[in-house]
Amino acid sequence: MPSVVIIGAQWGDEGKGKIIDYLAGKADVVVRAQGGNNAGHTVIVDDKKYAFHLLPSGVLYSDKQNIIGNGVVFDPEGFLKEIDILESQGVDTSNVMIDERVHVIFPYHKKIDVLEEESRGENKIGTTKKGIGPCYMDKIERSGIRLGELLDKEHFKNRLFQQVERKNKLIEGFYESQGFDPQEIYDIYCQYVERLKKYITDTTVVVYEALTSGKKVLFEGAQGTLLDIDLGTYPYVTSSHPTSGGFCVGAGVGPNMIGEVIGAVKAYTTRVGSGPFPTELDDEIGGQIRVKGNEFGTTTGRPRRCGWFDGVMVKYTSRINGLTAVSLMLMDVLSGFDKIKMCIGYEYKGEVIQHFPADLNKLSQCTPIYKELDGWKEDITQIEKYEDLPINAKKYIEAIEEYLQVPVKIISVGPKRNQTIIRETIF
Ligand code: GDP
Ligand code: IMO
Ligand code: MG
Repeated sequence: MPSVVIIGAQWGDEGKGKIIDYLAGKADVVVRAQGGNNAGHTVIVDDKKYAFHLLPSGVLYSDKQNIIGNGVVFDPEGFLKEIDILESQGVDTSNVMIDERVHVIFPYHKKIDVLEEESRGENKIGTTKKGIGPCYMDKIERSGIRLGELLDKEHFKNRLFQQVERKNKLIEGFYESQGFDPQEIYDIYCQYVERLKKYITDTTVVVYEALTSGKKVLFEGAQGTLLDIDLGTYPYVTSSHPTSGGFCVGAGVGPNMIGEVIGAVKAYTTRVGSGPFPTELDDEIGGQIRVKGNEFGTTTGRPRRCGWFDGVMVKYTSRINGLTAVSLMLMDVLSGFDKIKMCIGYEYKGEVIQHFPADLNKLSQCTPIYKELDGWKEDITQIEKYEDLPINAKKYIEAIEEYLQVPVKIISVGPKRNQTIIRETIF
């Protein structure tokens, strides 16, 4: 089956946008299936930088179909802003489709996200405050409003007014804050829907027809596996399934329709938001990685926490996603270090463990066991062939492959399209 899934195999921001944009050159269709505009995917083309939050990262090619699948939570305001920015830059966005089933984010979701974070105090998750969790809560609670419902104004009005009444009770009664005027939201969303109409359809049909007619489909993960609501570092996670299985429900495709599963993996580790992080470097090296890798959030601008590559963690994410390949990102950031460390086990209460623990309390007490490798000094950002990489860079890549037992098929040595080394053809 000519389909490729790209998921983040760490805590997000692995460089998914860059590699999706690169591979989209060969694909026909690019599909987002979970999360919302909490994502921040950076794509650099011809020295122009684009940040996509809700739009699939294939949107810069006018001949590719870009789909926002049913599993996404959809903020119309954020979406239209992105469309406006792209169109002002001369990018054709008529190739975008949105599934009629996506759950719509309303202002009360964003407000509850903020209020709930404030009420968590020291235990805050560090959310992006985009209303993602509260919108998924409504979906799971079976009270959420889906985009297709906005097309019938009378129906939408009834649903919205009911929802606002319920949410106002929560916002005013429990959080002691100011509620919303439903008419005001209704009027704004009716304006949005006039612009959105042309994009709304049943995208599961489009994806199925593309797959069965032999078109190349690229499934674009947002966030990262460790942020999965079930399999991630709960509760410091997002509210969706950024794992390969998430594409089946989030895009409405059977698992037998998925071919290759590529894990986007940084050559080190980063994390935004709270929660344990065994290989975190709270020192000068961590600071150097942050500056060299420009590790500041695309969505919130927050400095990202940085640390060495954690093999235990990626072995776990490789297993639960069924990775068939790794795309090793930001390799160039590690140039210049005398020594490079990779974590190949954890020490927990005097014992060595190899499985990433589900229990956060246990994880926070794990100390990494490192394998130390010699670094390389050369600038690798212009290298096009694997053979031309410095010997120590190759040794590092091969050590990762050997540890994970998954081939590293792509190596990214810079943020631009042409800074990509392909060891084995994808598609
Ligand atoms: P995403 O959320 O997984 O799409 O990743 P982000 O875009 O949030 O963060 C990755 C950052 O790394 C962006 O600023 C990219 O432009 C940048 N980037 C991607 N690949 C590379 C690479 O190989 N080298 C360098 N130096 N930067 C890269
Ligand atoms: P991309 O697609 C990194 C994190 C937030 C927070 C937690 C919950 O760019 O890799 P949410 O707003 O989703 O309820 O926040 O998840 N988070 C991300 N971290 N990259 C992302 O997306 C993220 N999306 C959410 O920082 O810790
Ligand atoms: Mg990002």
